[in-house]
Amino acid sequence: MLADLGARAIRLLPPEAAHNATLRLLTKGLGVPGRAPLFPPGLKVTLPKSGLTFASPVGLAAGFDKNCEVPGAMARFGFGFVECGTVTPKPQAGNPKPRLFRLEADRAVINRMGFNNFGLDYFVRRLARYSHAVPIGANVGANKDSEDRAGDYVTGIEAVAPYADYITINISSPNTPGLRGLQDKASLTGLLARCGAADRKGKPVFLKVAPDLDREAIADICGVVRGEGAWLSGLIISNTTLARPASLASADKGETGGLSGAPLFHPSTAVLAEFARALRGEFDLIGAGGIASGADAYAKLRAGAHAVQLYSMLVYEGPGLAARIADELEACRVRDGLASIAEATGNAL
Ligand SMILES: Cc1cc2nc3c(=O)[nH]c(=O)nc-3n(C[C@H](O)[C@H](O)[C@H](O)COP(=O)(O)O)c2cc1C
Repeated sequence: MLADLGARAIRLLPPEAAHNATLRLLTKGLGVPGRAPLFPPGLKVTLPKSGLTFASPVGLAAGFDKNCEVPGAMARFGFGFVECGTVTPKPQAGNPKPRLFRLEADRAVINRMGFNNFGLDYFVRRLARYSHAVPIGANVGANKDSEDRAGDYVTGIEAVAPYADYITINISSPNTPGLRGLQDKASLTGLLARCGAADRKGKPVFLKVAPDLDREAIADICGVVRGEGAWLSGLIISNTTLARPASLASADKGETGGLSGAPLFHPSTAVLAEFARALRGEFDLIGAGGIASGADAYAKLRAGAHAVQLYSMLVYEGPGLAARIADELEACRVRDGLASIAEATGNAL
């Protein structure tokens, strides 16, 4: 409650200053609950291919904690798993500011951060110290000026593998020029061949994709994932969108970057369902995009997700959101007579 009040005060600051102030408070433990919530047993999920087990299927999406500084604090706020990063091998400053915009009227965010982060050495030092209160994912990317992007992913995977519970290959940020091109059939085949040969210490690896994919692109990705990517555990669907729905009403709607939050909910859920239909349970799916309530999280599960992630709606709903969504999901489970929330997966397909 106090933390939600604090979140409202912080929202008076410009967006990136607010984010940095939040991280500073969290690193000092200020406003952080004394202990993580205990989740009802019906919320526990085990992802079929990776074997990852989460006490709640609601995770923190990448980008909130790029340098792996506050995973323990976010666990206490009620996330069932946390994903840190994106981290690149070398530190980089990202794009010029301003690069983060709140679209209040649309309950949305636009960002063009551009993988600002302190680099792998810093990230891995933090990751190695984490208590594993909840499972942690390390999301890896490529430096903007890299001459061997695939090599950057291999470097990232091998550096985080000893300490992370899972690893995410992020090829879907719209803010590093050309990065999303790695989703094309030939590039993806080459990338997954290189990454598949990396020493991942047996850790599950996920591929994070964009929502801006048509049926053909989705079919191509599924083909590559089943072939060269058969070693992957699953997909995270999705990153931010380059689309600008006609419904947007906020002044900053024309800013360059990736749009996330409420307007991303329907398109990202449709793409998730398309992947789920094509992959038929062969891979674990984590759904992200615009989740603001238990009903939204439930809809992602029903569209084929085994677990979900969120970030943007924390800006509008405050840090109590993950715990609230867990409560609401439990209510959906009971209402629909499911023994476990895992039984919801794919029910709407
Ligand atoms: C400010 C901001 C920064 C982000 N940075 C990253 C990132 O570094 N790596 C990544 O894979 N996704 C990043 N994302 C995307 C989120 O992880 C998530 O996939 C997307 O925002 C959709 O979920 P949401 O609508 O709940 O935010 C970022 C999102 C935002 C809003």
